[in-house]
Amino acid sequence: MTSVTLALLSARLGKRQAALEYKWMKRATSEVPLERMLARRVAGEPLQYILAEQPFGPLTIKVKPPVLIPRPETEHWTIRLAEVLNRSSARTLSVLDLGTGTGCIPLLLCNMLPAGSVHAYGIDISSEAVSLATENAALCGFSPSHDITRNSFQAFQASFLDPSFPHISLGVAPPFDLITSNPPYISWPEYMQLPHSVASYEDPKALFGGPDGLDFYHAIAKLVARKDFLNPGAVVAVEVGDGQAASVQRIFTTTAQMKTQIWLDPWQKKRTVIARR
Ligand SMILES: C[S@@+](CC[C@H](N)C(=O)[O-])C[C@H]1O[C@@H](n2cnc3c(N)ncnc32)[C@H](O)[C@@H]1O
Repeated sequence: MTSVTLALLSARLGKRQAALEYKWMKRATSEVPLERMLARRVAGEPLQYILAEQPFGPLTIKVKPPVLIPRPETEHWTIRLAEVLNRSSARTLSVLDLGTGTGCIPLLLCNMLPAGSVHAYGIDISSEAVSLATENAALCGFSPSHDITRNSFQAFQASFLDPSFPHISLGVAPPFDLITSNPPYISWPEYMQLPHSVASYEDPKALFGGPDGLDFYHAIAKLVARKDFLNPGAVVAVEVGDGQAASVQRIFTTTAQMKTQIWLDPWQKKRTVIARR
């Protein structure tokens, strides 16, 4: 049976890739039988969901459908952001990650920045994301504790589109020193073109950013423009879709009166807008 499924996998992915993935599935610590893993992959499920983990910098992040699988471009800018902050900041940072998913962004910052210098909060509308991010905080060793000499990350369920966000009862209160976000940014026409492996497995709430893909940037810019939302010298770092960087820059300069800069991803695409007041 395995050899038939393996032949089907080779037909789908090519011989080389199929052999590699077969090796990874055999080594996986998952309790799912190998034959079942192969069948799921043949059906088009993303490999990361089958292996149940994804490397993100030095971390191993647990992944579980339908929570968005962390992408290499997000890993790239988060590492760069940590390097910049490491050089420029001597103080403790209060960090808010909007649309936290697995918690990968704040957890990598907790890992890369000095112990006791990061107290991070993540917000997500999805209960599956909040429980996975909480699990990842524990697995990576950054669950909240009374020990302020350690970095910490805590996830909460809320919508940052809600006009009353962040409500007092939430346990997350401004001002913040750093806002990070990889918000949903797929436009309607792009959503219709998504490959089966994305559209059928990852949560549409994690992908669809409104008709032109920019709804969440308008919401973030309005939030950070509020009086007392940011500490002096605060930084806002948002990931953007291909071709969106100029529009997102404009949103932050007009709505929040911030100065902006663009970072490229490893494929030379304009991927991150950095805004400072
Ligand atoms: C593109 S995913 C990013 C996940 C993670 N930060 C990453 O980079 O892998 C966007 C996330 O935003 C969440 N989201 C969508 N609408 C939201 C809202 N109104 N408020 C809070 N989170 C939201 C989704 O559930 C999803 O987890």
